[in-house]
Amino acid sequence: MNIIIKNGMIVNARESFKADIKIEDGIISTISNEIKPERHDSVIDAKDRLVFPGAIDPHTHFSNKGFKDDFESGTKAAAVGGVTSIINMNDGLEKKDTLIEHFDRWKDKAYSSVIDYSFHTIISGPSYNENTLNELDILAKKGIKNIKLFTAYKGDKMVNDREMYKIMKKAGELNFNVLVHAENGDIIDESVLEFIDNGKVDAIYHSYSRPPIVEAEATERVLAIAEVTNSKVYVVHVTCKEALEQVEKAKRRGVNAYAETCTQYLVLDESYLKLPKFESAKYVCSPPLRQKSDQIKLWEGIKNGTISVVSSDHCAINFTNKKKGGEENFSKIPNGMPGVEDRFLVLYHFGVNNKNISLNDFVNVVSTKPAEIFGLNQKGSISVGKDGDLVILDPNRTKIISSKKQFQQVDYTPYEGVEIKGDITNVISRGEEIVSDGKFTGEIGRGNFLI
Ligand code: URP
Ligand code: ZN
Ligand code: ZN
Repeated sequence: MNIIIKNGMIVNARESFKADIKIEDGIISTISNEIKPERHDSVIDAKDRLVFPGAIDPHTHFSNKGFKDDFESGTKAAAVGGVTSIINMNDGLEKKDTLIEHFDRWKDKAYSSVIDYSFHTIISGPSYNENTLNELDILAKKGIKNIKLFTAYKGDKMVNDREMYKIMKKAGELNFNVLVHAENGDIIDESVLEFIDNGKVDAIYHSYSRPPIVEAEATERVLAIAEVTNSKVYVVHVTCKEALEQVEKAKRRGVNAYAETCTQYLVLDESYLKLPKFESAKYVCSPPLRQKSDQIKLWEGIKNGTISVVSSDHCAINFTNKKKGGEENFSKIPNGMPGVEDRFLVLYHFGVNNKNISLNDFVNVVSTKPAEIFGLNQKGSISVGKDGDLVILDPNRTKIISSKKQFQQVDYTPYEGVEIKGDITNVISRGEEIVSDGKFTGEIGRGNFLI
């Protein structure tokens, strides 16, 4: 069936204009001042509404060990939150796994996705071996061109500089995207021990054990290795002025570098880690929440193009789980917070309504740039020939965020009680209305694997 969206204000990354949109067989076929519906066309009237390209969240943690959302609940939450494609951070390899077995297993796990999806594959220090680089060739043939490395979490995910150099060199030859979590793991591990030994166990010490300089040092090192290996690097969850400056400097000298930040770093700050009754645990993530002055730099980074993407880094960890053991030792609090369902509206509200960024900047970082960087050529803008992935937003409605009403399977949201001016009314994925008047109407398993 064809679908026509009439009378809306189309917002792309470079322009906004009033026009009708027709989607035929899942693809945008016409954009013009007035499209007359034919007999079997379905019509949505978007008068006084904004029509955006479907959001892309390239940093979710669905079906990760110990996390509540799987691909079904996670992608439903994403869909009602305006997301029509995700790229998931799959768990790292089990020791005996090959990269290919790992990929096939995650393809099975993702079968229930309700929106389009792809993967990032973690290569950790412990799983790195002499076959890893050869396997990257095979992975590329399967359509995966994104790998993720960590410079923190020693003994679990961390790669050393030598491993990073070898992996990035190969990645450069294969045109992969190398995503990196950049914090100096050795310094963090040592300062965590020092704080705990001195009885400094509260959640705020999570932040004090990972100061901006620790993020900036690792960011600079990662960018240097990307430069010498001629590879494309994407620094995930950049949080602070110091790390952002390293990205700026690297970009200026021609490094193929991109920076991502996440909604939480733009709107929440370190003071949340001092909340009483262990509420602070809800806000423990790595790198940690920073200062208001860092938020100003991050908004500027979006405006001047240093930051290309705002993701959710959605980690569905229940508050009850965060409490276990964490009250006596902050390093036992699992890292990460939920956000896939809230990212679009929270960024729209605090970004666009509060005049920190323009509507077009907003589209750029939630849809257009993620599509460009990760090669999702059918996604990222409302143009003829692209997939019919759209989000319709009523800027005059208000919504109060509450975890009780959410699809994500977490017992809290960091944005509880926040009043948003604007609400998503419809989400269309490849020409199919999967959210109608805020309600999920899609089918389980309808998502396509994106190559
Ligand atoms: O804390 C966050 N952001 N996620 C959990 C895993 C990680 O990347 O540190
Ligand atoms: Zn991370
Ligand atoms: Zn993450």
